[in-house]
Amino acid sequence: MGVTVIMFERELLNLIATANSIVALNGAGVSAESGIPTFRDALTGLWARYNPEELATPQAFGKNPQLVSRWYDQRRCDVLKCMPNAGHIALARLEETCRQKGRPFTLITQNVDRLHRAAGSQNVIELHGNLFTWRCIDCGWEADESGPAFDEHPPRCECGGLRRPGVVWFGEALPGAALLKAQRASGKCALFMSLGTSSVVYPAAALVDLAFENGAKVLEINPEQTPLSRRAHWSLRGKCGEILPDLIDRAGS
Ligand code: OAD
Repeated sequence: MGVTVIMFERELLNLIATANSIVALNGAGVSAESGIPTFRDALTGLWARYNPEELATPQAFGKNPQLVSRWYDQRRCDVLKCMPNAGHIALARLEETCRQKGRPFTLITQNVDRLHRAAGSQNVIELHGNLFTWRCIDCGWEADESGPAFDEHPPRCECGGLRRPGVVWFGEALPGAALLKAQRASGKCALFMSLGTSSVVYPAAALVDLAFENGAKVLEINPEQTPLSRRAHWSLRGKCGEILPDLIDRAGS
């Protein structure tokens, strides 16, 4: 941790321990220590190895539904083998402490792996959907899939329609209710934590502006600098799985 961080540390710990309401906005970096690749890290990120235009747009699914379905089903199966890490567990613990003290805590995640739920977090807003709920593009029927890889790609609905993964693709709107809830919580919180996200994908990256407008303090944790780093009150360089448990322990939460 840098000098600035040490100077402000007491205020930060105090805020974690007492803030009236806390929002954590998470990105792929939070799950990196569980073995799930991020999107934009230079060598290991998914978008360094795959072309999102061929895999993560409605047009891609229209053009090659089999390829898209296989890719997401493989990711679903890979994620099923992963466990929550110390960062996920620390956030679940913080939520529980806040709940006991009647302080609202909202976890907004851009991740589609459901590892926060697996770690015990209750109040999770999935901004970008998830890998497990596949829905029919014709009749809209959807169901969770936690079994082995599908036999056919894409899997078919009973109505005969093709089913697609329940993730938000580029060019699609975010689920309206989830976004509204995320915006309301961000606009009301006293502490906004931006964790393991590159802060470049909108509208998620704009949530912090609502927090700033409300006078909230902003904490970022990321091994790399992001567009938010200079604006954040505290920008801690490092891994969430290492920094978060320590911060939350020391805050006594
Ligand atoms: P990115 O891949 O853009 O950014 C991940 C961030 O995590 C980077 O800034 C890394 O430096 C940081 N990081 C890596 N390891 C970390 C660790 N152990 N602890 C903390 N931080 C770490 O992922 P997102 O910001 O989540 O959208 O990307 C946002 C959206 O873009 C994703 O939800 C996805 C993608 O396209 C959809 O799929 C709709």
